[in-house]
Amino acid sequence: PTQQLNGCLGDTMVLALEGRAESFSLGRELPLERVRTIGRIAARHGFTPVPLASFGRPVADEEVLRLARHHHPARSSAAPAPGVTGPTRRRFRERINPPMARLFGAHGLDRVFTRGSGCTLTTEDGTDYLDFVAGYGCLNLGHNHPAVTERLRDFLDRGSPTFVQYVSMPEQAAELAERLGDLAPGRPERVFFSNSGTEAVEAALKVARAATGRTRLVHTGNSYHGKTLGALSVTGRARHREAFGPLLPDTVEVPFGDLDALAAAVDGAAAFIVEPVQGEGGVVLPPAGYLKAARELCRRAGAAFVLDEIQTGLGRTGRLFAAEHDGLDPDVLCVAKSLSGGLVPIAATLCRGDLWDAAYGSTDRALLHSSTFGGGNFAAAAGLATLDVLTSEGLPEHARKVGEHLRGALRAACAPYGFVKDVRGIGLMTAIEFDGDFSGAVSSLTDELLTRVPGDLHALADWLPDDLRAALALGESVPLVA
Ligand SMILES: Cc1ncc(COP(=O)(O)O)c(C=O)c1O
Repeated sequence: PTQQLNGCLGDTMVLALEGRAESFSLGRELPLERVRTIGRIAARHGFTPVPLASFGRPVADEEVLRLARHHHPARSSAAPAPGVTGPTRRRFRERINPPMARLFGAHGLDRVFTRGSGCTLTTEDGTDYLDFVAGYGCLNLGHNHPAVTERLRDFLDRGSPTFVQYVSMPEQAAELAERLGDLAPGRPERVFFSNSGTEAVEAALKVARAATGRTRLVHTGNSYHGKTLGALSVTGRARHREAFGPLLPDTVEVPFGDLDALAAAVDGAAAFIVEPVQGEGGVVLPPAGYLKAARELCRRAGAAFVLDEIQTGLGRTGRLFAAEHDGLDPDVLCVAKSLSGGLVPIAATLCRGDLWDAAYGSTDRALLHSSTFGGGNFAAAAGLATLDVLTSEGLPEHARKVGEHLRGALRAACAPYGFVKDVRGIGLMTAIEFDGDFSGAVSSLTDELLTRVPGDLHALADWLPDDLRAALALGESVPLVA
């Protein structure tokens, strides 16, 4: 548009008018003062600098400075990385996962943390970062909770044995089994310990098949239950399954939330497995009453109702188990992730006593499903300490309060942006859903363009891609796919 210049061009022109040949206010590490200075020079030559703005909203200096405080200057690729960071970067790239190493590098994520405490991770140069990934959900207690580390230190100091399988009964594992059974909904009598969520799911599917003598496993679309072949067979996401088929036969997928489809599929099935809230699938909450009715359908069909609480369990949704929100009493309940406070792998498959007995309740079947490392005392000691912390610190209730606060603030922060479709969740399971077809992005892009180049839309029209211009002219939103 006539009489208007983008910042970079304006910058070059006013510096030329000053007779200065230099890179002045371009680049990512740009101090606010330089922007102000170039504005003053521009004004001297008869230009009008446009105030700083974002998506149509003026941005005050204080806000820019506040954001700048959180900006860590990009690392110069020429500078050698300190201490362990350089070798770790190379080893990870060469020995663990080259494509992930490239991705980390491209996004400045190829850092190495040498300390973790609570929600904070620290690199060896002493820079702190807030951890929003929380170990895929295994850190409900944060990094290195002192109550858990102390318990583990004590275990080692005493020289307690970890693996005593087949020749004795494991002290801490037995205690943890009892504690879990007393705390979990439905008060399940039996616990099978393993080392990861996907193993807990394998155990659930196997106990259901062995107990019922049936084979069919019903699961929901968009579900996630793990990456071993059995768990993958009941995971309703094609992306995870495609490369590995054929998977288990006799599995049936029903839409999450669809009771009619479940009623048709569950008759004669060994089990129906479901997450109380779909986690990996995008924090999808079921329709009200769905889980309770699904549980009832399973009871009538004689199929095991398997609740996968690997992500929702242990306080995450604002209750110790998500099943408590609906008063559910699952036949089998899987729990893992945060069970050892994020320090040692552990998982548990909690099971109704009569179901377990039907599967494994005789001497020749008692070890039909077993694991070398599952049920180790060290992990169980961490589990006991974790349950103590969860209850004594009231973490489920804390997650409820903090989650509500987070979603309230996120909703307010996202409100100006048309491309944010939804902010939803329960407890500290929260998702921001973006407009999948980018239709909301049209209005946001318009706002953004207007802040960059003041004027009306007609002046801007020549710049816009044809389909965007057409959409704006018609006053409607269309997908922004060129
Ligand atoms: C609901 C659910 N089930 C199972 C799993 C698999 O757990 P793991 O990664 O420990 O095998 C996950 C992991 O994200 C999960 O969210």
